[in-house]
Amino acid sequence: MSKTVAIIVAAGRGERAGGNTAKQWRKLHGKYVVDWSIEAFRSHPAINSIVLVTGEEVPPGFAPESVKIVRGGPTRSASVLNGLNAIDDADENTKVLIHDAARPGLAADTIDGLLDALETADACAPGLPVQDALKRQDDAGFSDVERAGLYRVQTPQAFRLGMIRTALEDSGASFVDDLAAVEAHGAKVALTPGSVRLSKITYPEDFDMVARLLAPSGTVRVGKGFDVHAFEPGDHVTLCGVAIPHTAKLKGHSDADAGWHALTDAILGAAALGDIGDHFPPSDPEWKDADSALFLKAAQRLAAEAGYAVTSCDITIICEAPKVKPHRQAMRARTAELLGLPLDAVSVKATTTEQLGFTGRGEGIAAEAVAVLTPS
Ligand code: CTP
Ligand code: MG
Repeated sequence: MSKTVAIIVAAGRGERAGGNTAKQWRKLHGKYVVDWSIEAFRSHPAINSIVLVTGEEVPPGFAPESVKIVRGGPTRSASVLNGLNAIDDADENTKVLIHDAARPGLAADTIDGLLDALETADACAPGLPVQDALKRQDDAGFSDVERAGLYRVQTPQAFRLGMIRTALEDSGASFVDDLAAVEAHGAKVALTPGSVRLSKITYPEDFDMVARLLAPSGTVRVGKGFDVHAFEPGDHVTLCGVAIPHTAKLKGHSDADAGWHALTDAILGAAALGDIGDHFPPSDPEWKDADSALFLKAAQRLAAEAGYAVTSCDITIICEAPKVKPHRQAMRARTAELLGLPLDAVSVKATTTEQLGFTGRGEGIAAEAVAVLTPS
C-alpha cells in the first residue's frame, strides 16, 4: 500500500508579517509556529512520514524527532518541489499532503477529510465558503461580485506524488497554489471542509488572531513553594529582593532569598517543571552568591516556554525577626517589577510561629509561596 507523507513548507521570508524573526520561527503559546503543524501530522495515525522544508535560518537546537529537514527554494513552488524530491521510498501513488507552516491550526479531522476525498478525487484541499459580501473595484467604481460558489482555499492540499510533481516541474507558469498547478493539467479536484482555525498568518495582526484561535484549553495552574534558610553571623537578610537590616544573615549558596526561592518553586511547580534544585543545582559554583532574581526570571521564562504566564502570587514569610511588615510594600514592588506584574497581583505577608519551632527559636526563616499561572 502506498504511504502518506506530509510536507510542511517553511522556507519563506515572511516579509508581509514583518518583525526580526520569520513568522514560522516565532513562538505561539510556547511552541514555534512550525511545531504546531509538525505535531498535528505526527499525532495523526495515517501520516507515515514528515518532510519539513526550511530556509537557512533554523533556530539552533531545532531538531524535531523523526522529521526530515530539507532546504527550500526561492519560490514556494520550488520549496514544495524540494520537499517532494526528498521523500524516501516514494512511488507515483504516494499520497502527499502539502501544508504551509504559516497555518498552525491544523486539526486531525481536516486530515481525515482530505484523505477520504483523495480516494475519489485527483487532488483536494480544505475550502471555506466566502461569507462576506464581495465587491470589485475598477475605474468605474465598485460592482458586486456574486458570492455563491466562492471558497477560500487553505492547506494542506492533498495529491498523489506523480501528479503534483509533474505539474510543478512542467509549469513555467506560477500558480496561485498547488491545487491550481494540477488543475492546469486537467486534474479532478475536490474541496473538503475548511476551518477558521486553519487561517494563515500573513500580516502582523494575524498573530493575535491565530493566537486567540489556538489558545490552550488548559485552565488556570497553581503551584506552591516552600523554602528555609538558617541564620549565620551577618548584618542583613535579603527577602523578595529587599535588603532588611538584621542581627544575622541567611546562610545559603546563593543570596539565600527564601521568599523568592519559594516563589521560584511555586512557578516551576504550577507548570510541572521540576524544582529550583533541578535548574540551579547548589553544587554548581555558577550559582554561588547568585542574585535570586535570576532564578525567578528563569522560572517565569520556562513557564512561558511551556505556554503559561505568571498572573499572580502570594508569598508568606515566617519568622520572629526581623520585622517584615515595614518592608512589605518594597518587597511587593520589587517582585512585581521583576515579573512585570501589576502591584495588586503580588502579595507579601508575614507571620510568626508564636515562638514555636525553629523559626520561633530564631534559628532561621521559612517562606511559602503560591503562584497562579494562566495559558499565555
Ligand atoms: N514558503 C516556502 N518557500 C518560499 C516561499 C514560501 O517554503 N520560497 C512557505 C512559507 O514559509 C509559508 C508558505 O510557503 O509557510 C506560505 O507562503 P507565505 O504565507 O507567502 O509566506 P512567506 O512567503 O514566508 O511570506 P511573505 O510572502 O509575506 O514573504
Ligand atoms: Mg510568500
